Amino acid sequence: MISFIQSYNMRIIFKQPPWAKCHLRSSMSSLAAVLQPELESIKSAGTWKSERVITSPQSMKIRVGNGKEVLNFCANNYLGLSNNEEVVAAAKLALDKYGAGLSSVRFICGTQEIHKELEDKLSAFHKRQDTILYASCFDANAGIFETLLTADDAVISDELNHASIIDGIRLCKATRYRYKHRDMADLEEKLKQSASSRLKLIATDGIFSMDGTVAPLPKITELAKKYNALTFVDDCHATGFFGKTGRGTEEYFDLLPSIDIINSTLGKALGGAAGGYTTGPKELVDLLRQRSRPYLFSNSLPPPVVATGIKVLDLISDSTKFLERVSSNTEHFRSAMTSAGFTLSGDGHPICPVMLGDAKLASAFAERMLNKGIYVIGFSYPVVPKGKARIRVQISAAHTTEDIERAVDAFIQIGKELKVIS
Ligand SMILES: Cc1ncc(COP(=O)(O)O)c(C=O)c1O
Repeated sequence: MISFIQSYNMRIIFKQPPWAKCHLRSSMSSLAAVLQPELESIKSAGTWKSERVITSPQSMKIRVGNGKEVLNFCANNYLGLSNNEEVVAAAKLALDKYGAGLSSVRFICGTQEIHKELEDKLSAFHKRQDTILYASCFDANAGIFETLLTADDAVISDELNHASIIDGIRLCKATRYRYKHRDMADLEEKLKQSASSRLKLIATDGIFSMDGTVAPLPKITELAKKYNALTFVDDCHATGFFGKTGRGTEEYFDLLPSIDIINSTLGKALGGAAGGYTTGPKELVDLLRQRSRPYLFSNSLPPPVVATGIKVLDLISDSTKFLERVSSNTEHFRSAMTSAGFTLSGDGHPICPVMLGDAKLASAFAERMLNKGIYVIGFSYPVVPKGKARIRVQISAAHTTEDIERAVDAFIQIGKELKVIS
């Protein structure tokens, strides 16, 4: 039987007086009126980002929208493992053995043996003392600065760092300094200005994802030593495939292990499912487990996702064949495009931005590429600075030589049509 209170509440929920509906409609229409000009201005600037629906697994050949198959050059699937058979099989096994999810945060009842196994494997991979998993690297970046730094501290950040680092820094009380992009004289200046702070933390992307450029870690670590500062690197676009054995930007510079704190993702080269982590000193990881808000107040990673990470780490620890392939594919694409007259940004990284300048040109170029069966995306403001629009091509270990050649041929043909090259 429905109690009085229940039936009273139901009346409140289901029998709204006519004036309430009217109020709702009018506040919604005034919200629409406020937002509409902003939406229009994004469209008229040519920077509207639409989402193309893929109807197949993530791979080198994907089906989009109308079922058309296209060659994919815009995923962060650097090692080509997002739909690898062994990886998928491991995820299915974990689904059967451990279930779909934990319905809990880690510290209540959300830690399974595989979460610990993945953390241990990541620590071993990076040669670090300990690792803490998050739902994403965005979360890892949101949690680290607020937990580690107080008002007595300073954080000194490259001006082109990823949005998640910028947002993470916004959450902390430390004094904030921004140094000009990869400008080591400016970093030194900011280190001098922050001399009296208790902790000084230099924060940088390892690889800058819009440009494919590499942070100058040798100089950064030298300055950190000189001014007694700590170093933080977000290595999302390096972990698993950059450096001799894929251990990231510090290995690329032969500096392994010299960075104090590394944050990275499982959502790109390491299987592409989801998840992020912080790896570093045990005391730091201990503190993050106690205090980091995105860790404490968010659900555990689902078992199939964890198993994906474990399997990928096993595959890449056994062999360097995947990273050798992504590196030779990158060399092939970069040299063919440069010879054709295109300007490519980046430091030999599989992120190959083809610089076009104008936002509308970049999106028209990408659309024509898609018509030719090559899926690439134009990036424009606010993702990159105004006037620096580009098509960001991302190379994978799973691309064949023929795939690379097809993409280059399409670039050349459309580049001529649109008068980007002659
Ligand atoms: C440099 C960098 N940091 C952090 C992130 C966030 O990673 P995740 O997708 O795991 O949240 C990204 C993803 O775009 C990134 O490129």
